[in-house]
Amino acid sequence: MTVFIKDIKDYVGKYVTIQGWMYNKRGSGKILFLELRDGTGLIQGIAVQGSVSDEIFAKCDSLTIESAVKVTGEITAHPKHEDLFELQIKDIEIVFLNTDEYPISKKDHGPDFLLNNRHLWLRSKKQWAIQKIRNTIINATYEYLNKSGFTKFDSPILTPNACEGTTELFEVEYFDEGSAYLSQSGQLYLEAGIYSLGRCFDFGPVFRAEKSKTRRHLTEFWMMDAEAAFVEHEENMKIQEGLVVYIVKKVLAENKKELDCLERDIEPLKKIEAPFIRKTHAEVVKELQEMGSDIGERDDLGADDETILTKKYDKPIFVEKYPAEVKAFYMKRDPQDESVVLGSDLLAPEGYGEIIGGSQREDNYDILLGRIKGHKLPEDAFAWYLDLRKYGSVPHSGFGYGLERLTAWICGTSHIRETIPFPRMISRLTP
Ligand code: 4AD
Ligand code: MG
Repeated sequence: MTVFIKDIKDYVGKYVTIQGWMYNKRGSGKILFLELRDGTGLIQGIAVQGSVSDEIFAKCDSLTIESAVKVTGEITAHPKHEDLFELQIKDIEIVFLNTDEYPISKKDHGPDFLLNNRHLWLRSKKQWAIQKIRNTIINATYEYLNKSGFTKFDSPILTPNACEGTTELFEVEYFDEGSAYLSQSGQLYLEAGIYSLGRCFDFGPVFRAEKSKTRRHLTEFWMMDAEAAFVEHEENMKIQEGLVVYIVKKVLAENKKELDCLERDIEPLKKIEAPFIRKTHAEVVKELQEMGSDIGERDDLGADDETILTKKYDKPIFVEKYPAEVKAFYMKRDPQDESVVLGSDLLAPEGYGEIIGGSQREDNYDILLGRIKGHKLPEDAFAWYLDLRKYGSVPHSGFGYGLERLTAWICGTSHIRETIPFPRMISRLTP
């Protein structure tokens, strides 16, 4: 019977077949330890000369790194580790024997070499673990939002207008229509969606032509935008808090092995409980200045500011009410102080920084039109968006998370480029 390594604990004492690849080989002479992987996990296969035929032992011995195999044998409990199992090899079929040496070895490779070989690097243990955790985060997001009344709503990628500012747009020729832009966020379309569905979310690739070369920036990344009718700023933050707590708990419950493989200290993750810390932008500026930052009163937080601030606390921090001039045109102003917005960034602890951006949206036609003009945005392209303020307009809010930033924090990886299968950065388009 062919089984997945993840299910192996149900087959102790039984004969099974595992199909996969040989990750590593140790031993010699009379006994061989083959580390096998099948995409669902890793298991140690043991071949002992004398208990298998000479022919089978020789086949095991001939295996090279990443050769493909079908291995049959008895599952036994690991002598030392309660939750580990071994495969006592009885038979082996070589599906593909690599004759070229596998380019990625145990020795330390530089990041450029690994990124050039990303198509192969993805097979490595840590890269495997990161993709497993990314998958849990995606599923947890769908679960949480579906049970909170949100409907999946797919925003377009080719768009006629900017969402987050015109300096970071990828422009493409679009037949006789002139230019189209790759979406920076599906938010504006979700705002149309809420008037049909009440609450909706999208989840897909977005594009930023920013010239930022930092560990937090990609030019193509995955964003989940959520939007809800009749939700105001306070409740918007509550939804974000609930979602993040749910995701972290789900990863802790489902990805113990993967977190272990990444050597992620899970103590900080166990502390992720509501309520998160809340501070206004003005409070944060003061605090940062006291910590030695040269941030000005009406400045956006710099990358270093986010790092030092979030190293100080063990919970995520909502920074609310940024000065309007550093945020997008659609954010609603605070009636208590028209110079700041009813929006927040959620910063992850341990130095990670911004993972979510969100706000209440301007829902008044005339004010929004004024903002579009003020930002020198093309009125024509936004006519449909303004229309939403003409028919049944209601207070509404939403937010968007960057999947790679969220994954990097939860996995504890220093650069977000490892959290997406094929990263796109300013000077990297291949593989
Ligand atoms: O803060 P941002 O720009 O917000 C928006 O796009 C809103 N329209 C979202 C909304 O309200 N629906 O981006 C949202 C998140 C950031 O908090 C960050 O996690 C991630 O997207 N992000 C990036 N991730 C990787 N590389 C980049 N260049 C990113 N820019 C933003
Ligand atoms: Mg932001």
